[in-house]
Amino acid sequence: MPENKKYSVDGEATAQAELAENVFSLTVAAPAIAQTAQPGQFVQLRIMEPSFTLRRPVGVAAVDKKRGTCTFIYRQVGRGTAALAELLPGEIVGVLGPLGHGFGRDYVHPLLVGGGMGLSPLLFVAAAYAGQADVLMGGKTADELFWTELYAPHVGQTFLTTDDGSLGRQGFTTTLLPEILEAADGAYDAVLVCGPEIMMRGVAQIAAAHGVPCEVSLEKRMACGLGACLSCSIDTAHGRRKVCKDGPVFPAEEVFL
Ligand code: FES
Repeated sequence: MPENKKYSVDGEATAQAELAENVFSLTVAAPAIAQTAQPGQFVQLRIMEPSFTLRRPVGVAAVDKKRGTCTFIYRQVGRGTAALAELLPGEIVGVLGPLGHGFGRDYVHPLLVGGGMGLSPLLFVAAAYAGQADVLMGGKTADELFWTELYAPHVGQTFLTTDDGSLGRQGFTTTLLPEILEAADGAYDAVLVCGPEIMMRGVAQIAAAHGVPCEVSLEKRMACGLGACLSCSIDTAHGRRKVCKDGPVFPAEEVFL
């Protein structure tokens, strides 16, 4: 995929909402990025506080090309994301992007598999496939699967698992995935995954066993996000690669199998 142009903009926050406990949705006006971002790409958000500057890579969860906005869904985990959560509509946040390489766009009927906050970038993938994709989502409890409402307008079937069995099948996404692929009998032409690494490894192995191509979105600590600092380097089947520039999405066989 050719590298697309990056923009560095001061974006005005247009909406901020708490979707679930400590999970927020932030919408920012950044028209050039909204027009060009591809599903699976990310941006670097920047907030200047008196005592520190936050630079954080965040996946794009949705774009509205008409309004020129991008939406990011993130979990508040430290003081950086706390500063992000305090951002009010009308305030400014720096947005650099779109960055990295996203998911393949040419599948006919992909199955999206997401766990936890991995469901955020996959939401953009679901919207891009406009009803052609199905989704398998996993969470610890039913409360963590607030995503179902967000995905409903964009996907065909939705499959759910929870660790405690409070919603959907008890277990992990990897518990249910073999059944789904067997029942589909070759109907899925790709499995696109984002979530904890252990989950992605398991999903990649199951997809390979069923002969279905699999793409995974890796998460690594990123200092620059631009391919300049090497902090996100990983070993792949094709040598060292940078997650921020060569990924975050990779064919599963290049990084896991
Ligand atoms: Fe600096 Fe990837 S984050 S090279």
